[in-house]
Amino acid sequence: MFAVYAESFSSDDPLSGLRLGERPDPKPDSGWTTVQVKAASLNHHDLWSLRGVGLKEEALPMILGCDAAGLDEDGNEVVVHAVISDPSWTGDETLDPKRSLLSERYQGTLADKVVVPRRNVVPKPASLSFEVAACLPTAWLTAYRMLFTQGGLKPGDSVLVQGAGGGVATALIALARAGGLRVFATSRDETKRQRALELGAHEVVESGGRLPQRVDAVMETVGAATWSHSLKSLRQGGIVVISGATSGPNPERTELNRVFFLQLRVVGSTMGTRAELGALTELLDVSGVRPVIDRVLPMEQAEDGFKAMAEGELFGKIVFTR
Ligand SMILES: NC(=O)c1ccc[n+]([C@@H]2O[C@H](COP(=O)([O-])OP(=O)(O)OC[C@H]3O[C@@H](n4cnc5c(N)ncnc54)[C@H](OP(=O)(O)O)[C@@H]3O)[C@@H](O)[C@H]2O)c1
Repeated sequence: MFAVYAESFSSDDPLSGLRLGERPDPKPDSGWTTVQVKAASLNHHDLWSLRGVGLKEEALPMILGCDAAGLDEDGNEVVVHAVISDPSWTGDETLDPKRSLLSERYQGTLADKVVVPRRNVVPKPASLSFEVAACLPTAWLTAYRMLFTQGGLKPGDSVLVQGAGGGVATALIALARAGGLRVFATSRDETKRQRALELGAHEVVESGGRLPQRVDAVMETVGAATWSHSLKSLRQGGIVVISGATSGPNPERTELNRVFFLQLRVVGSTMGTRAELGALTELLDVSGVRPVIDRVLPMEQAEDGFKAMAEGELFGKIVFTR
């Protein structure tokens, strides 16, 4: 089958290990199902994989991709949940110490077919296209959990989203607005700031800029470059929820004094549960909220999408179709 896969790693030139071509058809184990991929979306995770972060050398070649929507073996339209927990695990799948994401231990979604445990598919509402549904399992699910589970945010609360242009960040802005929050966003780029306003942000400022008020919560995916600003933007007792560190994991100043003196809370967040993915698809079905899709490309042109992400030239999600 056709697949987009990592053949080798390079931290400086991640695209050098990217390959497009034939890979063996996957064979489902007992209790697993084969999903025919109709659409898959790109995440920063796929670039990290090509850099050798989170993926082991002995697992190569590895088909990339966490997100897909397609048809299960019975022809049902489904969305794939990318968090593969141990068969014996019964609780919150994101807390299973043995969990992995598709494309880490098991082959990923950027292919004609992907095999997953049967419990890792959720029904795709008919109102969502395959392209839209393919945006949900990683970026949108992560945003949903950050805001409403880990952040515990309620209508009327205020939130700052750092780095407005990203896949997770655009999801955070749209979901926060749909959830009745007052939404602030930062971006390094004026065009992206304007687009964030169109997407639902109430106010935007340049990265590191002063907000008109302190906020109840900050949603962090940028990391070192925005960390200090995130802590400074919080009200006393506020919460920063962090799910990524695109610009690096080690901020110059950690400002622990600010954390304890203002009684700030720092909470991590990773992906989301199958139940949260179900709730998210329901939310989109009833609300009409839809992901911002930067571009849709045939999977054969996946390299163009990877390049755009590596260069930060995107606003929203990049989707590949079969
Ligand atoms: N823990 C999880 O489960 C989970 C799930 C999904 C993603 N993540 C992580 O979250 C991060 C974002 O993922 P994504 O897929 O949304 O990536 P993405 O689409 O590539 O988004 C990256 C965004 O970060 C901002 N940014 C990058 N470098 C920056 C810098 N030096 N200073 C300020 N802003 C910067 C940019 O915003 P502007 O250009 O607008 O400034 C950019 O649009 C990644 O690190 C990813 O690994 C984690």
